[in-house]
Amino acid sequence: MKRKVQVGIIGAGPAGLLLAHLLKRAGIEALVLDHRTREDIESTIRAGVLEQWTVDLLIALGLGERLKREAHFHDGITLRFNRGSHHLNFPDLTNGKRVTVYAQHEVLKDLIAALPEDMIRFGVRDLSLDQLDGDHALISTADDEITCDFIAGCDGFHGPSRRAIPTSALKIYETVYPFGWLGILTEAPPSHHELIYARHARGFALLSTRSPTVQRLYVQCDPKDDLAHWSDDRIWSELHQRLETDEADWSLTEGKIFQKNIVPMRSFVCETMRWGRLFLAGDAAHIVPPTGAKGLNLAAADVVVLAQAFAAWYRDHTTDRLDHYAPTCLARIWKGERFSWYMTTLLHRNDTEEDFVQRIHQADLEYLVGSHAAQQALAENYVGLPMAV
Ligand code: FAD
Ligand code: DHB
Repeated sequence: MKRKVQVGIIGAGPAGLLLAHLLKRAGIEALVLDHRTREDIESTIRAGVLEQWTVDLLIALGLGERLKREAHFHDGITLRFNRGSHHLNFPDLTNGKRVTVYAQHEVLKDLIAALPEDMIRFGVRDLSLDQLDGDHALISTADDEITCDFIAGCDGFHGPSRRAIPTSALKIYETVYPFGWLGILTEAPPSHHELIYARHARGFALLSTRSPTVQRLYVQCDPKDDLAHWSDDRIWSELHQRLETDEADWSLTEGKIFQKNIVPMRSFVCETMRWGRLFLAGDAAHIVPPTGAKGLNLAAADVVVLAQAFAAWYRDHTTDRLDHYAPTCLARIWKGERFSWYMTTLLHRNDTEEDFVQRIHQADLEYLVGSHAAQQALAENYVGLPMAV
């Protein structure tokens, strides 16, 4: 079937769905297309931590009712190394800001439920993009041909949008880490009321939460490792060792593990965020390692800028904001990349690093827990830099 839409959005992840809501509010006609089923999208386990402004935005858009009831609002994080625990109090360090733990797939459920059914198509097949530098752009699928004023490529790192830009025009920066995260979900009560990030000689570990009965934990592993090598006993043994502390009143509570996965880690920026009528947003344009909890939040920041640019164009046909989309977003993206790289290298064991560099990380951690200024710098990045930055 042939149809026309003002903005075609490829991908029903956080970037695509939030953009659809922002455009709907601005009176701009948009259609979201995703090759996965709604069930798959709503059950894929990924991010957990939302920055304060992301939560404020969801609430302002009327999308935060369940979040307000079910999310966990945290006043800080604990850094653990050399068996010691060091709490960073975010409201004290940032003039009152906190972070929110609310799973990405719960955000997506809320965004999908609030979007009119005719604004989204799941399970589309054979999607391709065409005529990106013409008068109109074209999205073709196995069933439809959709003519668009603009296309928003919100289709994640592996999607077709970035690949539709000629290779010779792409400006890409990338580094791949020699480690990944093995993540689990376990039926257990919380072991701690906030997140614990641990650096240990055996590797990184992270304790997070999902609900009063389900916890999310991660251990550093070889990114190419096979889940078959990670029995439940081995996972718990590693978590106990890496999270160990001299505090007498703390222990890790075990439970039945009902989900396991391994994610590799990379830092990636495609500075070519616009090509003709195509605009890339979120993981389609940039990837961070998850240690700084920035990916979803950066994706949300991109589409706020993009929605404002589309609104300006439809309101008075000015192209300034569209022209400044990439540089405006990249200023924030590179700060998110820096912070994610910093948290990752600070907290992971990396055997390819010289002993000297490993001692620098140790000194960095000791400096951090002894310096109010260093804690402020970490906290203001973790809770989210102001949106104008
Ligand atoms: P995606 O979520 O990848 O969405 C892209 C969508 O495009 C998908 O639904 C996909 O099906 C669709 N698509 C792809 N190809 C096609 C195609 N050919 N046709 C149609 N549709 C297509 N971020 C945080 O902010 N905080 C955290 O705490 C955090 N923790 C994380 C922990 C882990 C273990 C991982 C892996 C990630 C974490 N992230 C975190 C990062 C976050 O999950 C991502 O940055 C976020 O999902 C990016 O959203 P997106 O909409 O850009 O892309
Ligand atoms: C979670 C994920 C992260 O990447 C992080 O830094 C903290 C928490 C989570 O899934 O809960």
